[in-house]
Amino acid sequence: MNQTSLHHYIVSAYPTLVKEKNFDRLFDLRLSANLTLIKDLFFKLYPEQRHKESFHELLETLPKLYKKRPMPLRAQDIERIEKASWYQSENIVGMQLYVDHFNHDLKGLIDKIGYFEKLGVNFLHIMPITTRPKGENDGGYAVNSYHEVEKRFGTKKDLLTLTEKLREHKIYLMLDFVANHTSNEFSWAKKAVQGDKKYQDYYYIFPDRSIPDQFEKTLPEIFPMTAPGNFTYNATMGKWVMTVFNEYQWDLNYSNPEVFLDMLSNLMKLVNLGVDVVRLDALAFLWKKMATQSQNLPEAHALIALFRMCLQVIAPGVVFLAEAIVAPTEIIKYFGTGSIEGNECEIAYNATLMALLWDAVATKKTILLYKNLRSLPIKPNAGTWINYIRCHDDIGLGFEDHHINEIGWDAKEHRKFLLDYYCQRFSWSPAKGMMFMYNPKTGDGRITGSCASLLGLEKALEENDSTKIQQAVDKIIMMYGIILSYGGIPLIYAGDEIGTLNDYSFLSDKDKRTDNRWVNRPYQDWEAIANLDTGKTYHSKLFFAFQNLIKKRKETPVFADGNNLELHDSHNPHVLMYERTSVKNEGVLILCNFDEAPQWVDENQLGSYGKASKAKDLIVGKGIKINEGTLLLHPYQILWLKKG
Ligand code: GLC
Ligand code: GLC
Repeated sequence: MNQTSLHHYIVSAYPTLVKEKNFDRLFDLRLSANLTLIKDLFFKLYPEQRHKESFHELLETLPKLYKKRPMPLRAQDIERIEKASWYQSENIVGMQLYVDHFNHDLKGLIDKIGYFEKLGVNFLHIMPITTRPKGENDGGYAVNSYHEVEKRFGTKKDLLTLTEKLREHKIYLMLDFVANHTSNEFSWAKKAVQGDKKYQDYYYIFPDRSIPDQFEKTLPEIFPMTAPGNFTYNATMGKWVMTVFNEYQWDLNYSNPEVFLDMLSNLMKLVNLGVDVVRLDALAFLWKKMATQSQNLPEAHALIALFRMCLQVIAPGVVFLAEAIVAPTEIIKYFGTGSIEGNECEIAYNATLMALLWDAVATKKTILLYKNLRSLPIKPNAGTWINYIRCHDDIGLGFEDHHINEIGWDAKEHRKFLLDYYCQRFSWSPAKGMMFMYNPKTGDGRITGSCASLLGLEKALEENDSTKIQQAVDKIIMMYGIILSYGGIPLIYAGDEIGTLNDYSFLSDKDKRTDNRWVNRPYQDWEAIANLDTGKTYHSKLFFAFQNLIKKRKETPVFADGNNLELHDSHNPHVLMYERTSVKNEGVLILCNFDEAPQWVDENQLGSYGKASKAKDLIVGKGIKINEGTLLLHPYQILWLKKG
C-alpha cells in the first residue's frame, strides 16, 4: 500500500476531524504516517552521523511550512484525499501554453477561460511565469525566483486571481518547479559569485578543471550544438560551475542538505499559490555522481520521493508530474519502485507513446509501436500518464535500438530515415519539421515542428492541395483521438486544436534563433478562432472535431485510467488497435489506420465488437458497417467502438 492510500484510510477513519475541519490534527496524523519514510529517505541521502542537525531542521520546518498553507487549499487537500486518484479521471483534459504567446499576460489568460470551457479543457499547464534573466533564458526555465511573477506577465495578485478563478471554474493548474537548476542571476548564484562559501556549496563549483574533466568522461551533452560541455568558467570567481543545460543554468547541489531544505520551502511557496500539479522539471538530472551519466540515479529517485513525502504531509492535494524524457524502462521508475512504489510521482509523461506515434506516422506501420509497448512493465495502479503528441520541446526518438533491430530493421538507418522524413530531407515527405541538436558524430538528432506542420498541413496549404489538406486534418484528429482515449491526462499543445503551423518568427530574435524549439511554440491565432463558427475553414473542422472528441471522452467512464488498456493484434500492419477494458462489459475498442490508403480489419480480430455486437463509433455516434467479414478504415481514420 502506498502512502496515498494510507492517507485515504486515515480520513475515512476520522470523519469527525474532517467534519470539524480539524486540519491541524489531520496534519499531525499525516506527519506521523510519513515520518519513518521521510527519515529513511533523508538519511539515505544525508548520512545520519553527519547530518543529524539538518534532519532536526527538517522536522522543525514541516509544521512551519504547513502553517502558511492557505485555508481554502487545506480544505481542498482533504477533499482530494477523500477522492483519491482524482488525476486519473476521464473528465480531465489538458492544454499547455505560454502565457505571452497565448493572450499577452495573466489577465489575458483569465479572459479566455470561456475558450477553454467551449473546447472542454479543464487542466492547464502554464509555462514558466517567474522572473528570469533578460536575454536568453530557455523560455523561463532559467529562474531568478521560484515565486515572483515576471513583470510582463502581470503581478502576483494577477496570478492569485487566476488560480482563484480557475478553482471556481474547476480547472486544474499545473506549474513547473525547475528543481535541477537556477539561473546565474538567482540570489544564491550571485552570492556565490561574490565569494560567499555557503552559497558556492549550493552549486557544483570547482577551482580548476580536474574534477570537471573527470565528470565529462561520462556526462552526455544535452545541447551539444549550443551549449557543449557541462561546465562553465566564471571569470569573477575564477572557478568552474556545473551547467548541464545552458551555461546560464547552474545545477543545484542536492548532496548539500541545505539545498534540499531551501528548495522544499520554494516548492511550498509555489504550491501555496494554488497549484494542483507540480511539473518536476528535468528531475532525472537531480543527483550527480562521478563516473556515471548522472541521470536516473537511485539517489535522484530517493530525493524525489523525499520531496513527495514532505509535500504530502503539508499539501496532500498536490501531486507531482515527472518530466523524465528518458528511456522507456527508466520513465516508469519515476512512479516509484520497491519500498517507494507509488510514493514518488503520481504522473509521468508518456514520452514513449509520443515518440512511437511519430514513428508509426512516418513508416505508416505500427510494428515498432506494438513491439515497444508490449515490452513495457505495467505502471503502478495509482499512477497515470500525461499523454501528448508533442510539447514545447523537441521530439526525441527515445525508443531502444534493440527493438528496432529485433523487427528486422537497422536501428541506425531507421533513425536516419525518421530524421530525414520529418526534417525536410525527402522531397516527397509531407512533414515540415526542423532538425534539433543534430550531432554529426553520432548521427543523433531530435525533431522540432508544430503538430500540424509535422503532419503535413503546412506543405498541403502551400501546394493548395485540398486532398492533402484533408489528410493532414484527419491525421491530426487521429493522433489526438489516440491520446484522448489512451488512459491518463491528454495534453493538447495550445493551437494544435486549430491546426496552428510552425512559427518562424524566432529566427529574427537574437535570444531565440539558435533554439529552434521556438518553431513549435506559436502564438494563439485569435482571428482564426473568431471565425470558427463558419465551420468552413480547416481551423473550424479541427476545433469542432477536438470539441467532440473531448465531450465523448468525458462521457465515457472507461476512459478513466484504471490500468485498463489492452493492446490487440489487428493483423493489419497499418492498424493500431487497443481496448479500454471494463468488467461491466462497457469497454471501448479503438482502431486507427496509419496508412494513406484504406485498410481492412478482419471481423475475427474485432472479437466481441464484431457484427453481432452492433457496435457503434462513439466519435460520430453511428453504427459501423461490417461487409463480407471486414471492417473498412479510411486513411487516417480513428474509431472508438462501443458495443450497441
Ligand atoms: C525541461 C524543459 C525544457 C528545458 C529543460 C531545462 O526539459 O522541458 O524546455 O530546456 O528542462 O530546464
Ligand atoms: C505484426 C506484429 C504484431 C502486430 C501487428 C500489427 O504482425 O508482429 O505484434 O500486432 O504487426 O501491426
